[in-house]
Amino acid sequence: MDFFNYNENQLYAEECSVTDLAKTHGTPLYIYSRATIERHWHAFDQAAGDRPHLVCYAVKANSNLAVLNVMARLGSGFDIVSKGELARVLQAGGDASKVVFSGVGKKSDEIAYALEKNIHCFNVESEAELDRIQAVAKQLGKKAPISLRVNPDVDAGTHPYISTGLKENKFGVSIEDAYKIYAKAAEYSHIVVKGIDSHIGSQLTEIQPFLDALDRVLLLVDNLAEQGIKLSHIDVGGGLGVCYDDEQPPHPNEYAKAIASKLEGRDISLIYEPGRAIMANAGILVTEVEFLKTNQDRHFAIVDGAMNDLIRPSLYQAWQKIIPVKTKSKVAPKIYDIVGPVCETGDFLGKARELAIEAGDLLAIRSSGAYGFTMSSNYNSRPRAAEIMVDGENSYVIRQRESLESLWQGENVLP
Ligand code: LLP
Repeated sequence: MDFFNYNENQLYAEECSVTDLAKTHGTPLYIYSRATIERHWHAFDQAAGDRPHLVCYAVKANSNLAVLNVMARLGSGFDIVSKGELARVLQAGGDASKVVFSGVGKKSDEIAYALEKNIHCFNVESEAELDRIQAVAKQLGKKAPISLRVNPDVDAGTHPYISTGLKENKFGVSIEDAYKIYAKAAEYSHIVVKGIDSHIGSQLTEIQPFLDALDRVLLLVDNLAEQGIKLSHIDVGGGLGVCYDDEQPPHPNEYAKAIASKLEGRDISLIYEPGRAIMANAGILVTEVEFLKTNQDRHFAIVDGAMNDLIRPSLYQAWQKIIPVKTKSKVAPKIYDIVGPVCETGDFLGKARELAIEAGDLLAIRSSGAYGFTMSSNYNSRPRAAEIMVDGENSYVIRQRESLESLWQGENVLP
């Protein structure tokens, strides 16, 4: 559930009129709802019950400082994949001791930075990375807490670009290889073996693949214990899907309960890394219709938002709901392709949508809070959109619209 609802025929973000926000701040405009973020975060936190756990929000989904700060205030942990994400978390008031560091290509300076900040754990994705962490930790005279990301080879049943738990994917190590890597880690002087993690993909709409992955991980945990390697946490990754259209993903509560029940009787703490499930439906992208146009028999609504603002439709053929900010009963509905001004045929936000609209109207692309702004770019020299967070009847600019000057910031011409 989220807090973007119609009141009469006008869309509201919590108690703020979306039309008013667009008038004040211009379009395209990202709007997030604090109440929705908090509600989703608590759903994960509460479902874990009494078991010691950490909700490590996946920063890549939306890394705006205000978003991270809202979560830091809730006591959230964070899943990061770069030095930049860790710096953002710290800047936003996040607690380094609740940070897990994922990603296949950690550079030595990133490892050093994370060690200096005393993060909770490195989610190690290869033997070579383990060697590198040992070397950097030794140099700094620090002990590096690690977990090994295993690839349980289960089919997440999701889009191939966001499926990560198959053996052909680049992520993690195979369960077979994990034994020898754990044994090596246990011998290393500057490594402390803490846990195990897996993340099998994103936008999963069934619980079963998570449970299949967990079964395989638990078998490994038990076998390692027999070899004298006792793990203190299991990190089940992120990946829980959301409703973009008519999907019916399990509620975080249902998902977390199913996982918790598999862990019953085990003395082990739990880490989740949700990104999309917290943020996607906590945000919308508002865009204005510039022109309506008909080519042959196809109708286009040309809007001021584009693939550089929200790339998911172009990149994954992702479907996101597009709704009018003000519903109109006197305009005849037509079937439109909603396209942006970028010079690419692939620049669309939605195709074949029935809408009753006129030029000048505002549209809201729903479920844009995750992997929206963070994947945006300046392609076609388009300044990136402003971001707003609403909190009840108040709204705050949490990122200013980029200026023209910012487009060439850091660039130089030859002398
Ligand atoms: N943990 C790890 C190690 C991950 O790689 C990811 C996402 C997450 C957690 C969070 O997954 P989530 O709960 O958000 O599904 N740009 C794509 C999604 C890419 C996900 C990458 N990894 C999209 O827009 O659909």
